[in-house]
Amino acid sequence: MDLNDAGSPSATEAGVAARAPGPGPQTPATEPMPRADRAGADAGQSAVPAPVASASAAARDPVGSLCALAIAAQRAQRHQLARVLILRAIALDPGRAQPHVVLGLMLHQAGRLADATVSYVRAIELEPTHADALLNVGIALEQQGHLDAAAAALQRTLGLRPDDAEAFYHLAAVHVARGDPARALGAVRRALEINETPATRSLFASLIRNLAGAPLLHELRGFVTRALAEAWGRPRLLAPVATTMIRQDARLAPLIARAVAAWPARLPFDALRAAAGLEAIFADPLLVALLESTHVCDRAIERFLTAVRCALLAAAEDSHASADLAQAGALRFCCALAAQCWINEYVFDVTDDEAARVTALAERVASALRAGEAVAMLPLVVVACYRPLHTVITPEMPGGAWPEPVAGIVRQQVHEPLEERQLAASMPRLTAIDDEVSRRVRAQYEQNPYPRWVRLEQPWQPTTLEQWLRQTLPSAPLAPLSARDGVDVLVAGCGSGQNPITAARTLAGARVLAVDLSLASLAHAKRKTRELAIDTIDYAQADILEIGSIGRQFDVVDTTGVLHHLGDWQAGWRALAAVTRPGGVMRLGLYSERASAGVVAARAFIAARHYDSTPEQIRRCRQDLLAAGDPLLAYVADYPDFFSTSECRDLLFHVQEHRLSLPQIKAFLAAQDLRFLGFAVDAAVMAHYRQRFPDDPAATDLDRWDALEAEYPALFGRMYLFWVQKAGPPATP
Ligand SMILES: C[S@@+](CC[C@H](N)C(=O)[O-])C[C@H]1O[C@@H](n2cnc3c(N)ncnc32)[C@H](O)[C@@H]1O
Repeated sequence: MDLNDAGSPSATEAGVAARAPGPGPQTPATEPMPRADRAGADAGQSAVPAPVASASAAARDPVGSLCALAIAAQRAQRHQLARVLILRAIALDPGRAQPHVVLGLMLHQAGRLADATVSYVRAIELEPTHADALLNVGIALEQQGHLDAAAAALQRTLGLRPDDAEAFYHLAAVHVARGDPARALGAVRRALEINETPATRSLFASLIRNLAGAPLLHELRGFVTRALAEAWGRPRLLAPVATTMIRQDARLAPLIARAVAAWPARLPFDALRAAAGLEAIFADPLLVALLESTHVCDRAIERFLTAVRCALLAAAEDSHASADLAQAGALRFCCALAAQCWINEYVFDVTDDEAARVTALAERVASALRAGEAVAMLPLVVVACYRPLHTVITPEMPGGAWPEPVAGIVRQQVHEPLEERQLAASMPRLTAIDDEVSRRVRAQYEQNPYPRWVRLEQPWQPTTLEQWLRQTLPSAPLAPLSARDGVDVLVAGCGSGQNPITAARTLAGARVLAVDLSLASLAHAKRKTRELAIDTIDYAQADILEIGSIGRQFDVVDTTGVLHHLGDWQAGWRALAAVTRPGGVMRLGLYSERASAGVVAARAFIAARHYDSTPEQIRRCRQDLLAAGDPLLAYVADYPDFFSTSECRDLLFHVQEHRLSLPQIKAFLAAQDLRFLGFAVDAAVMAHYRQRFPDDPAATDLDRWDALEAEYPALFGRMYLFWVQKAGPPATP
């Protein structure tokens, strides 16, 4: 879920860069950059000029050759030489635009935006139709926050080059900065249509996730499908818009409505078939992409999928129906449904009748495999929709022979769990776990690592800590950071690895230590880290309460969704502050009491009815909460955590939970000499705060935030997510 979505409940979605990076002054290298190559091309050189211009070219066009040489020198990091060359070119022919554009680029890349703007403007005065100069000045103006002027320059660029993807991309960024995401979406869509880049994909993903109500949403179905399947953004954050599209789909919507109307009875197989629904379901790439990417957080679609699963079970029990369905393309879809059920840890409701029939089917499949007989694929995959395959088959069974996509399900449900068990057994242990609460919390997360995930957003070019903080919290009262090389990061309570992986991919030179109580969580994290070929993260078991004993200090400490699960959250925070270097920063995520009314009511419901935290009881309890007819109880279904077993346990059945208020946090910060840097909140929330409290431009007054939260209890989602900085001068390297 998105921690930054005001108004929607949220727990721990905790990637350091969970939000796609917007274009900012620190332009990632993968983001469209000011045009340098064309400067060389226009100068009569190839787009990538050779370091030495030929004598004949120099004789024909000395200014163009000097431009090309200057660009080559700039690329080789020989900035002084580049500057000398380009100034010579300007001196040779002061009335030619191109050398001014190249000088502008150099200044731009050095971060001297105002000076770069002057050079570009000079070029435009000399040659008003110089499209690169217009584009680059548009980018420079956007980066300086001169949005109207930037938009005008970019529009002029598009007048000259209507298919300039970079101009559309930056225009989209301008619209974002102006608070007009719908127009931004239109511009980024054009950019994608012309030329896809990692930056345009990421910007699209970050925009579309908040625009489920956008007009003509269905036209973006193809892009949203790919955004999910290729993880242009974090799938969990894209899921709501995909869900909206599925619920609005002309073919799927009637089926979903019928499944919901029939609930708790399962819509029968014939009803699905009669509505010609099977093909609509099997052939829907968006539905498949959603099922395979992240858990589906929607009550209606859950009921629909539960009915489809039951229909598939009936078909799998009948060899003719099974063969027919396999022909109709059911296997691919059924594998996606099995992936979904694995991701959500079998949270869908199961009747006693279904459970008995699945047991019989699983036994039939397992005994055929043990006897070395051929096994039909559909029944095997239907079993995988109800229980993990590692409880049915072993890796020694004829694994190599599974055809795709079944092989993918076997890998996910048999081989990966085995690998995780092996990783858990060899996990280093840095501290003892003696605290009684820590032991109970550990036991919970050994059974239910949090959260199970399959895909993260595509990585970006890493940036420095300072750049990243300035981009994330532009108005933060940030004291100087350490100038040492690289950055030591501690992810405390790293769970299943999303936060350390995001930190390692976001912060240049990050050396990450990620610790947790739960070996199962650490093993999941380590397996995913290996899969992504990241080698800058060390994982180890440790209790935060004992972290001081490891004898290390960190520039960044990240602990989201963790401290409120300690017996003494203040002791845990103090222990982490003590291992943070002076001038270092901490990112924290702590539950808000005000935002938790629905959770508190649900926990009381659970206590009164004595549900335990087994998967069966969690399944039962979810249905009972929804059937109780109490809006406060039903509110828990607005939390994405409600839609997976481990996360539902974390949300409603936790063995230890504190919920805090901003005055409590403020008092702690004052006592520990920690400076509040700012909340990571949605732009709309921040805009609202600024409008209400214009005399607090840094948006760091916790009393005012407290007043605003009193008015809007869901202001922060379920968690306060914020950064603080430790007092004291940073150590010099
Ligand atoms: C809700 S999960 C959050 C995981 C991760 N930070 C995230 O946001 O996805 C809480 C994690 O904190 C860990 N944890 C709780 N108490 C801890 C302690 N005293 N020391 C280390 N880890 C702890 C748990 O094992 C669990 O993995």
